[in-house]
This record gives sequence, C-alpha cells and structure tokens, in this order.
Amino acid sequence: MAQQKARGEDNPNFSEYVLQVNISNLFIAGSDTTANTIRWCVLFLLCHPEIQEKLQTEVDSIVGPDRLPSLNDRHRMPYTQAFIMEVQRLANLIPFGLAHLATEDTEVAGYRFPKGTTFLANMWSFHMDPKFWPDPEKFDPERFLNPDGSVKTKVPSFLPFLLGKRQCLGESLALMELFLFLTIFMQKFIFRTTTGRPHPKAEAVGNFIVNPPKPYQFLVEERKH
Ligand code: HEM
Repeated sequence: MAQQKARGEDNPNFSEYVLQVNISNLFIAGSDTTANTIRWCVLFLLCHPEIQEKLQTEVDSIVGPDRLPSLNDRHRMPYTQAFIMEVQRLANLIPFGLAHLATEDTEVAGYRFPKGTTFLANMWSFHMDPKFWPDPEKFDPERFLNPDGSVKTKVPSFLPFLLGKRQCLGESLALMELFLFLTIFMQKFIFRTTTGRPHPKAEAVGNFIVNPPKPYQFLVEERKH
C-alpha cells in the first residue's frame, strides 16, 4: 500500500478495506470449519467406542503418557490419520463448496455454460459413491489404510478440501489442528455417551457448513495412565 501510494497509483485491491476483508475471511474460513470437524470427530468417537480404543492404543504406543503429541508423530500414527479422513468423508462439512463463476463461455463434458454461470460441487455424490466406497454409510477408518497398515496417500473420490486453483487455502493448517486436538483428546480423555448404545443420532444441521446436531450430551472421563 505504501509503495503504491508513493508511486501515485490507486489499485483498489490493495486497500485497508480489502485487507480487513481478507483477514476476516481467514478467521471465518479457518474457525467454524475446523471446530465443527472436531465436533464431528467427537460424535463418531461416541458412536464407535471400539474405534476410540484403537486411537487410544495408537497414541499410547507412539507418544505415551509423559509428553504431549506433536506433529512429528503424525507419520507414525496411520490409524489416527485414517480416522480423520473417514470423519471428513462422512461429515461432508461444506457439501457444495464455495460457489464459482464462469469468467467466460465454457464447455464441460459436452455441455455449454455461458459466462456468469454459477458452479457448485456435490461433495455428497463423490464421498458416498459405492463405486469408490463399498458400504458408503458405514464408518470405517480402515478403508483409508493399505494392507500393511500405512495410510493411503492418493485416494480417488476423496476431496474434503475440493481441488483446483481455489481449493481450500488452509488444508495443511486444518489437518495439523485436527491431528493435535484428536491425539491430545485421546491421550487424556475417554468420551462416553450418557445413554450407552444406541448412540446419539448423527443428524446433520446447517446448510453452508454442516454441523453435528446441537446439543448432544456426553461424558468426558480423564484417563488414568
Ligand atoms: C477441516 C477444516 C476445513 C475444511 C473441511 C475446509 C474446506 C474448504 C472447502 C471445501 C473450500 C472450497 C474450495 C472450493 O470451492 O474450491 C475451502 C475454501 C477456503 N478455505 Fe477452507 N477448509 C477448512 C479449513 C480452513 C482453514 C483452517 C483455513 C485458513 C486459515 C481455510 C481457508 C480457506 C480459504 C481462504 C478458502 C477460499 C480459497 C479460495 O477461494 O481461493 N480453510 N475450504
């Protein structure tokens, strides 16, 4: 902004106003998304106590009780990564992505779209397609693991952050946050439903960002190591 002012230029993209909008976009895009994915993680933990135990076994064996998990542990914790991926697949947090506008007349798969057409993704269709996901309604982190137990890196039809030029800017930050919250939760706590099974109903609410039902009740018990 200072350089532009010194040169006597007036580019409206470099103004206090646009700076404020960009910063608030980062806060908005970065907080509700990650926070609600963590809420989905807790909901799936409540629904699947046996999966919660597997996550706890992994954190106990890789990190132990005497230090906090760190990002350096991530590559040695494939089950935790697979759990996060399966939560993201079934949560379909931003089911239509962000709207995108054709800047010129465009042809896709033989269909013509005039300049100005709005495009939305359909996350549900590719995250629930039985061609890629056998028994797609089933919560099963193992589908993201190779036979040797390592986590799959390239998974077709898995795009929680979408793709292309405008794909989520915060993907790596979000995955770091999700890993740290989940592993610390699993190291320190046990999450239980107040009603035992059957578990809370996973009915999503919201439209732009899909949240787990609010409020759902659960108990958090401290783990004794
Ligand atoms: C689990 C957490 C998150 C999920 C599931 C998520 C998902 C998405 C999705 C689906 C889009 C739309 C992409 C498109 O329409 O092509 C998006 C865009 C975006 N996300 Fe995220 N996001 C998450 C966390 C974050 C974080 C932590 C930040 C930043 C601090 C962030 C910043 C953005 C920004 C700036 C865009 C717009 C990118 C652009 O238009 O060029 N997101 N995100």
